[in-house]
Amino acid sequence: MTLKSSRWLTAAAFAVASMPLWAADAPAANVNPEVERGRYLATAGDCVACHTAPGGQSMAGGLALASPLGSIYSTNITPSKTHGIGNYSLQQFSDALRHGKRADGANLYPAMPYTAYAKTSDEDIAAMYAFFMQGVAAVDTAPAHQTALPFPFNIRLSMSAWNAMFHDAKPYQADASKPPQWNRGAYLSEGLAHCTTCHTPRTALMAEDRKRGLSGGDLGGWYAPNITSHATSGIGNWSQADLVAYLSGQPVPGKGPAAGPMAEAVDHSLKHLTREDLEAIAVYIKSVPAVESADMKQAADSFGQARDDLDSIRGTELPRDFDAMTGAQIYDGYCASCHQAQGQGSDKDGLPALFHNTSLGHASSNNLVQVMLHGIQRVDADTVMPGFAHELTDKQITTLGNYLLTSYGNPAAKVTQDQVARLRSPEPEGGGKLLLLARLGMALGVIVVVAIAIWLLRRRARR
Ligand code: HEC
Ligand code: HEC
Ligand code: HEC
Repeated sequence: MTLKSSRWLTAAAFAVASMPLWAADAPAANVNPEVERGRYLATAGDCVACHTAPGGQSMAGGLALASPLGSIYSTNITPSKTHGIGNYSLQQFSDALRHGKRADGANLYPAMPYTAYAKTSDEDIAAMYAFFMQGVAAVDTAPAHQTALPFPFNIRLSMSAWNAMFHDAKPYQADASKPPQWNRGAYLSEGLAHCTTCHTPRTALMAEDRKRGLSGGDLGGWYAPNITSHATSGIGNWSQADLVAYLSGQPVPGKGPAAGPMAEAVDHSLKHLTREDLEAIAVYIKSVPAVESADMKQAADSFGQARDDLDSIRGTELPRDFDAMTGAQIYDGYCASCHQAQGQGSDKDGLPALFHNTSLGHASSNNLVQVMLHGIQRVDADTVMPGFAHELTDKQITTLGNYLLTSYGNPAAKVTQDQVARLRSPEPEGGGKLLLLARLGMALGVIVVVAIAIWLLRRRARR
């Protein structure tokens, strides 16, 4: 099937699918295929996740993205002529997505993932423009907060240097040696669905390290695992059906459910994509060249087994000092009611087993600690994983984490009390994806410092 005809199917399928996120505020429109196609593409790009403040109106901006330099706030991208992008021409809209440039020519901070969106075709950018102009309700108010980074980080021009060095603004070029389905998957994964933004490791200056594409990204508080086709370091032993199910938010035996930033990506964006597009993404992802991670010699979902530890501790007295509880005692008190006495969970109740589970098999324990502290927030889930930040101390989480890793997971991974203390502080609004921004912010800082150093040197040279 050609890309063009598949797009028509996509638009048609989307028009039928329900999208409560938009339905609430989209003006009742006579369905315009261009606008509907743009709506679908904007969902694939997950624009709403960043451009909507908690409890705020869709696309009206104001979400705070934490950076070490201060908060960066998303802006109002409704078609309001006074406070949004209502006066943007198609060219200006395209420049924002492809070059990270605002209508007034100023550089956007890379909190806006234009490095990935740049891959989007002109045709698809035009459809999104039609959607933003005609399918989104205008909100004539400014977000409650605007970005005001301290000098010198407020010099947006410093981003030009970074863009010149690292940003490739060329739209996706199809690889003629590959089938259309593969190209469609690559187009979405590297472009609007921006898998690379989170899953590709970064260089010291925060550019994506393309040679190790999708081999795992550190988002600060979360770890986006290696999803290359490597059998033990990556997801080489996931079937295509596993991957499609995971991306559509369905439970996959042995693979932990998407948590944190991945849960957001699934709930707001990926699970609303057509089956056809998810299959295409899976085909492409499964073809990504294997990259080995030195610390992952065994597949993440192959560790551990059922345990009988609780028999031996039940009936014994708990220590007065809760911090002195053993891992098995904490597990019995807080986890076993759902994940069961032997860690075996209960498939039919949507309770995952804790052994042979990717969430305990990675070399990084960050995601496990995050899940124990903050739980998993899912839109419309029947059973949820609660967070235990209020019930358990740093010491208890540390003891429990290490107990789980040695009994059920990757025994080489460790949890430390410092790590728990760091991850405990409430996540900034915008969650993990903005922790990535924190790192981008640092790169920006480096560039600004270098620019100032050069300027000072020049001045001295001139004297
Ligand atoms: C990861 C968060 C994130 C996502 C996802 C995101 N944006 Fe943004 N966007 C931002 C932030 C933050 C800004 C403001 C950046 C700044 O002030 O430098 C911004 C700015 C913009 C602007 C410039 C508006 C102006 O005049 O200030 C446009 C246009 C825009 N985004 C469109 C989009 C579209 C379309 C999508 C989806 C395809 C999208 N954004 C997805 C974070 C995001
Ligand atoms: C905003 C950042 C972000 C984006 C965008 C993102 N991911 Fe993820 N992804 C993560 C994080 C963080 C995890 C770990 C979640 C967990 O532990 O439950 C993850 C987990 C996964 C896993 C499970 C891996 C494992 O070993 O358990 C797969 C598969 C995956 N992502 C595929 C994708 C694909 C495909 C895309 C693009 C279509 C994508 N992700 C986009 C952050 C992201
Ligand atoms: C009220 C029931 C309940 C309790 C109590 C509970 N869990 Fe869970 N847990 C769940 C459910 C449900 C899921 C799957 C969530 C999903 O699919 O979104 C889950 C998922 C998990 C995951 C997988 C996360 C991932 O990223 O894949 C881990 C790890 C976990 N729980 C650990 C624990 C620990 C440790 C405790 C005790 C401190 C605990 N759970 C207590 C219900 C519970």
